[in-house]
Amino acid sequence: MTESAAKAEAEKLREELHEHNYRYYVLADPTISDFEFDKKLERLIEIESVFPNLKTPDSPSQRVGGVVTKNFPVVRHRERMMSLSNTYSLEELRDFYERVEKGLSVEGISTFEMVCELKFDGIAISLLYENGRFTQGATRGDGTEGDDITENLKTIPTIPLRTNFSKLTTIDEKWNHAIWMNEFKNDFEVRGEALMLKADFETMNREREEAEEKIFANPRNATAGTLKQQDSKEVSKRKLTFFAYHLESKSLPDSLSHAERLKLLSDLGFNVYSAREVASSLNEITKFLETWETRRDSLPFEIDGAVLKVNHIQHRKLLGETSKSPRWAIAYKFSARRAETKLKAVSFQVGRTGAITPVAELEPVPLAGSVISRSTLHNFDEIERLGLCQGDTVELEKSGDVIPKVLRVIPELRVSNLPIKPPSNCPSCGTPLLKPENEVNYYCPNEEGCPDQRKGRIIHFASRNAMDIGSLGEAIIDQLFNEGLIQDAGDLFFLEKSSLSQLERFGDKSAQNLLDALESCKSRPLDRLIFALGIRHVGSATARILSLKFPSIDKLRSATVEELLETGEIGETIAQSITEYFRKRPTEIILSKLKNAGVAFEGKAAKVIENLAVKGKSFVFTGTLEKLKREEASDFVMERGGKVSGSVSKKTDFVVAGSEAGSKLEKAKSLGVKVLSEDEFLKLIGQL
Ligand code: IVH
Repeated sequence: MTESAAKAEAEKLREELHEHNYRYYVLADPTISDFEFDKKLERLIEIESVFPNLKTPDSPSQRVGGVVTKNFPVVRHRERMMSLSNTYSLEELRDFYERVEKGLSVEGISTFEMVCELKFDGIAISLLYENGRFTQGATRGDGTEGDDITENLKTIPTIPLRTNFSKLTTIDEKWNHAIWMNEFKNDFEVRGEALMLKADFETMNREREEAEEKIFANPRNATAGTLKQQDSKEVSKRKLTFFAYHLESKSLPDSLSHAERLKLLSDLGFNVYSAREVASSLNEITKFLETWETRRDSLPFEIDGAVLKVNHIQHRKLLGETSKSPRWAIAYKFSARRAETKLKAVSFQVGRTGAITPVAELEPVPLAGSVISRSTLHNFDEIERLGLCQGDTVELEKSGDVIPKVLRVIPELRVSNLPIKPPSNCPSCGTPLLKPENEVNYYCPNEEGCPDQRKGRIIHFASRNAMDIGSLGEAIIDQLFNEGLIQDAGDLFFLEKSSLSQLERFGDKSAQNLLDALESCKSRPLDRLIFALGIRHVGSATARILSLKFPSIDKLRSATVEELLETGEIGETIAQSITEYFRKRPTEIILSKLKNAGVAFEGKAAKVIENLAVKGKSFVFTGTLEKLKREEASDFVMERGGKVSGSVSKKTDFVVAGSEAGSKLEKAKSLGVKVLSEDEFLKLIGQL
């Protein structure tokens, strides 16, 4: 491939990828599949690695991260990033409105507009664009100087790496007539908020919890922690979003109002949230506030209020600013989601892994629509961080859908200096607790005998992401366990209707419902069953990988640490944990019960085809295959006991090269790895 051909193809791919990225993330209206998108991106990365000088700073390949920054350079903001003054009541809001009214009337202006927006609860960010390309992104810092986190911000899909100038005039004809447009294109700044959607936050925390990593208190902390990461690859793995709320450029005329600037931002490809309104009376503003205060929990992200901004720039200039904040804008904070209450005691829960979780038992207190009487303290590091003592009064916070959290101790109200200490024995079975080095948790080592651990494992087995046994909740498991009807998850499948319907609160109908739910969960996909077993460090993502590589429980059970590591997708800790799990006696018991009950032990990919040419061999695919999709080709290899890897090394046995194969093919040749055409590959796997 000549360099000029590569250049043209790379540019075409970049254009397409920017467009598809925008369609997917901003418009939520994709026109190609994820697989096709990945293929295009892979191809671009391939071209750029063969011709590194073709790599551009705004290339979509930059989104995957990989740049490691030691210390973030400090950059000076072109214009100070001011903060807003806050109001907490409608009276204060009226005062603000009247101040604006008065300030403008002395200048002879009697009517004005206010733009109402949501106040995103994330991290304020400034983005610079030169020649329509994203060149620098920084945090707010102290308002004058912030950290240059450009590489991290490039991984956020809703931050355009280049803007839609080519399409601007077809989106809205009025931009055609804007005489300032040419100059504007060269240089502008966008401000807005980086945040994590509630759903992404919850998924991430669930995965961190499964992997026994520290969880984040709320989406805002998760965002701040993510943006501080020094390896941008880490940032690209966590899902962040960006909402734009401010556009600044020397070339923009004052006559272009804030509302029009937001429209321009949106036309340029930025994510500008749709809930915004231009209001021309206090009444309209109040309506906006009331609407969004009630709808707050239904939004996919956290807000902590609304922001009201004078719409016309000329009006803003007349009003001016104080040393800290503009006189033309204000934040209206929604009612508090914090409350104070007294700590009655700390109880200790024993989880399915034996980890002891301290739980704050609280004097019941109403908080954002519910009454709170308990709140998890996660672990003893957290108790230490809080400096919690017996009888303390604490401040609680509930943000959005996220469970309430103890924020801090109120030192003025302290009544004792008796710190909360970890128990020495398991509260469930009395066994002395252990604290492994380098771990935050205390553990009950009595895995087999400890009733709470046993119960915890059954609860996990039945839970939504595991076997999802509809009507089987915690309370029923408790009841079944305490009545001696079940010892482990395997026993669930041998429950009888007659003994169930004799239980308290159980009728014929609920007994039958439970039996039906149990029957239908027997055919759940293999990855769910693997996850349901509750192997330490095996979360749902790892379970999925395992189910593909070892398409039956028996295969997984007989896998050695080496074989597990060979998959290239899991590390030593997980591999050790898996083999250890299958060596245990209770595992054997539960597996034989599950098998006898008819629970499916085989995965979909369980098809195993004898093919010695493929078995144990490692394959790399590159370029575009004509007859097969990449996924199909990988399945063919895995079904025959081969491995598929993303990069070529000395250990690679075959590189299958489709059309327009690039650097991987070069590398294969230089290492002397055998290269197959698609047809040769099809012959090898017996499909031609
Ligand atoms: S405008 C001069 N609009 O609130 C006006 N800020 O203390 C500058 N924020 O640091 C801010 N949503 O992080 C503006 N729609 C919105 C906002 C918003 C959230 C944050 C921003 C800023 C803080 C103000």
